[in-house]
This record gives sequence, C-alpha cells and structure tokens, in this order.
Amino acid sequence: MKFDKKILCIGAGYVGGPTMAMIAYKCPQYRVTVVDINPIRIAEWNSDDLPIYEPGLGEIVKATKGKNLFFSTDIEGGIRDNDIIFVSVNTPTKTFGAGAGMAADLQYWEKTARQILQYSQSSKIVIEKSTLPVKTALAMEKILNYTKSSVSFDVLSNPEFMAEGSAIKDLENPDRILIGCRETESGLAARETLMEIYANWVPRQKIITSNIWSSELSKIVSNAFLAQRISSINAISALCEKTDADINEVSKAVGMDSRIGSKYLSASVGFGGSCFKKDILNLVYLCQQYGLHEVADYWESVVKINQYQQERFILNMLTTMFNTLAGKRICLFGFAFKANTGDTRESPAIYITRRLLEEKAEIVITDPKALKNAKADLAGMEGKVSFVEDPYKAVEGCHAIAVLTEWDVYRNLDFQKIFNTMTKPASIFDGRNIIDHKRCLDIGFNVYPTGKPALTHS
Ligand code: NAD
Ligand code: UGA
Repeated sequence: MKFDKKILCIGAGYVGGPTMAMIAYKCPQYRVTVVDINPIRIAEWNSDDLPIYEPGLGEIVKATKGKNLFFSTDIEGGIRDNDIIFVSVNTPTKTFGAGAGMAADLQYWEKTARQILQYSQSSKIVIEKSTLPVKTALAMEKILNYTKSSVSFDVLSNPEFMAEGSAIKDLENPDRILIGCRETESGLAARETLMEIYANWVPRQKIITSNIWSSELSKIVSNAFLAQRISSINAISALCEKTDADINEVSKAVGMDSRIGSKYLSASVGFGGSCFKKDILNLVYLCQQYGLHEVADYWESVVKINQYQQERFILNMLTTMFNTLAGKRICLFGFAFKANTGDTRESPAIYITRRLLEEKAEIVITDPKALKNAKADLAGMEGKVSFVEDPYKAVEGCHAIAVLTEWDVYRNLDFQKIFNTMTKPASIFDGRNIIDHKRCLDIGFNVYPTGKPALTHS
C-alpha cells in the first residue's frame, strides 16, 4: 500500500509509543514506525503484553499494529526510509559532571542527532518531542547541518503535554498542540507538514505556533506551573494540620475563583513522575546559567516543598506511632506515582519506603499495576520488603496503612475486614485523602489525613 506520509519516531517509551499509536490510529493513510535501541522494549510492543500500562492504549495499538504502525530496532533503516522524524528519547537529569543533579542529560538526544545525520540519504523534518532545555534545537541544527551536504534538515519543537494515566484521552483531545519553528521558508513549510498531521483530528484553532525557543521553554514552564500549584497546596496542607482548617475545603474555596481554577489543587504526599522534578531542576539550572539566581531560587523552592511534604509524612508516622517504627509492619497502598499507570519513576513511594526501612520498619507493598516496577526500584532490599497483589492479604498483621497512590480500588475497600486482621492500634495515613476518614475512625482506626485534623481514639 502507498502511504501519504512516512513517519518515524525514535524512542519507544511512555511518550513515543502512545503518541505514535494515536497518529497511526487517526491517520490510516500514514505509515508510522517506532524504533528504539532497547530490543526488549520493542519485543514487548510487538507482543500482546505492552511495555506500559495506559488505559485505552491496548485497543488503539491492536487496531493499528502491523497495518500502519510498526515497532522495530532498525534505527538505520528507519532514518533512511522516513522523511518525518520525531525524537522522543529520554532526557533525564544529569548524574555526573557539571550540572549533576540539575541539568538535563542530553547524551541520548545528541546521539540521536548524530545517527540521523549519519543515516540520512534525503532531507528530513526532525521534530523535538522530548522535553529539552531552551536552545537545544540550536545544537540539533548545528550537528545536522554541519556537513553542508545536499541533504537538509528542518528542526521543529513539538513538545508533548500528555499526562500518564490519561495519555490516550489527552492525545485524542489535547488542550493544544504547540509547534515551534524557524521563521524561514523551509522552517514554515516543515511546520505546515506537521500541522497537517495533527489536523487529521485536532481542530486547527488548537494547533498553535511560536518561535522555536518559546516552544521549548513553554513545555518546561507548563510543568513548572503545574508542580508549583501542587507544592502550593501541599505547603498549605501543613498549615491546615496545625490550625484545624481542612485542605479540601480550602482547596475548593480557592479553586472556585475562576481566575485560579480547581485543577492541581489536591493535597498529596508529594508529586512524583519522571518529569516534574527533572524539568523544574532543568529550569533552575538554566536560570543559574543565565545569572538569574533569584528566579532559580524561586523555582527550586517548588521541589524543596515537595521533599518537605514527603519527609513530613514520614515524621508524622513516626511520632504518632510512639516514636518507633522498628519491627512494625507498614502496608503501602500504591507504589505508582499516580493512579492508572504502572510507572513508578520518582514516585514518593520510593523515598518513603527507603525512609521507613531506615527506621527499621517492615514494608508490604500492594499496587494493581506497579509491583513489577516496584520490585525493580527496590532491588537489593528483598527480605525487608514484600509485594502482595491483594490488598486484603497485604494488610494482615500490619500496624499501619500508608495510602500513597489514589487508585480507585482503595476508596471502597471493606475497611472493617481490613481492621480485623491488623495489629492494634491500627493506623491509616492517607497521603491522598481518598478514603472515608470518619468511617475508618468509627471502625476503630486512628486516621491521619493530609491537611486535615487527625481523627484518633486517644
Ligand atoms: P522513556 O524512558 O519511557 O522512553 C525513552 C526511550 O528512548 C527508551 O525506550 C530508550 O531506550 C530510547 N532511546 C534512548 N536513546 C535512544 C537512541 N539513541 N535511539 C533509539 N532509542 C533511544 O521516556 P519517556 O517517558 O517516553 O520520555 C521521553 C521524553 O518525553 C522525555 O524528554 C520526557 O521529559 C518527555 N515527556 C514525557 C512524558 C511522560 O508522560 N512520560 C510526557 C511529556 C513529555
Ligand atoms: C505531567 C503533566 O501533567 C503533563 O502535562 C506533562 O506532559 C508530563 O508531566 C510530562 O512532561 O511528563 P504526569 O507526570 O504524567 O504529567 O502526571 P500528572 O497527572 O501531572 O501528575 C504528576 C504528579 O502530581 C503525580 O504524582 C500526581 O499524583 C501529583 N498530583 C497531581 C498531586 O499531588 N496533586 C494534584 O492535584 C495533581
């Protein structure tokens, strides 16, 4: 079959897989190939057991795979045969050298740029899908256009705004698609080609354009603003606990101001995920590089409050459980960084588990989708941590439950049945405010919500 466009995506991760599946699904007239250096990941995409859990993903992959969506390890062939190349490789925080712990590690990104140059036999549109520091496209352009051959490259910025757990919904009905380009004839033509792809299902008025640097920066700033709201409400949750105010009531009252809005105002044990912390630290580093130290400090405080919130949660457990957790069994309800995903990257549960182990507690972890990743995250701690799929079995003999992920399944458990099998006094620390606190108090639990007065029997 002859396809209208041939699209490649380098990087078959949480972004590359779902975004390309959506393009293939919405555009049967295009051929979409996703390549990755990780053969296991590609094998999983090619199997029925996809490498990531995302509601609705299985259905659209099933509808397209082998028809106009293909997963492969042939990066060279992919680059050679496709004219439109999305790059969605990982851009983690640098762990070494200058900027360690803050700057983005661009080694995967640069390696990809060099591969594109090496294997291209015709001109390409190269699209930054990964989240990158502002001005990265300049480096990409310099690498790609260094040899001044007849093969030319247009670099576009097209950041991805989907959230895990709702990726398919977000991709199908995005708030906006942002495309940044150079204001040259070929840059504008490349932008039009990319707009055509999205226009297959996204209304044109939602496809916005900007210069390439604004586009790169807008992505990081969007994440910084979202995380800032969470840190703001979490900071206030600490004050609520001291003053008998209720964070849900405050959040509702504040969020009903249409200028403020109600989203991202749920107090929690802290935000996790692979991006918020990484992107804010990247922003902080950029500001420092430009000598904007006050701006850097302002944004860094968002990450500091997030750390404080997790530490506060641990200290609350410690002090309310008679200042010792040694030998006590604590059951974690949820290990994923949020509900509806198996992803555990930067999940507060990782830090909390480590800290509880330092206090010599025994940990039992239950989660509907994240146990595989949890085991990998906690490798080397076997023996001190156990993993149990069924929450009712997981809590048996435990002194406390810590609710760390807002999975729906935890909202409506039979807490009387749970209470009966636990060691007394039994406590619940609700890091997500999802369970019925009053009912659990009535059953006999001591209940410690986030940002609300504790409900206890003593
Ligand atoms: P990921 O780690 O799940 O996937 C990245 C993939 O790229 C991996 O499978 C890796 O093997 C592959 N890769 C690395 N170098 C490669 C190379 N040279 N050639 C081929 N493949 C290579 O990461 P992710 O969560 O998909 O994130 C990718 C980018 O998208 C990051 O910049 C992230 O900040 C951004 N982003 C992520 C999300 C999200 O929800 N996870 C949302 C928006 C933006
Ligand atoms: C986030 C952004 O929402 C996406 O727009 C962005 O594309 C993505 O990062 C990215 O760049 O990777 P994601 O991290 O997948 O998406 O999930 P979110 O729903 O934003 O949640 C992030 C964390 O904040 C989770 O731990 C969640 O539980 C927490 N959160 C969220 C709260 O604690 N309170 C809230 O009110 C909302």
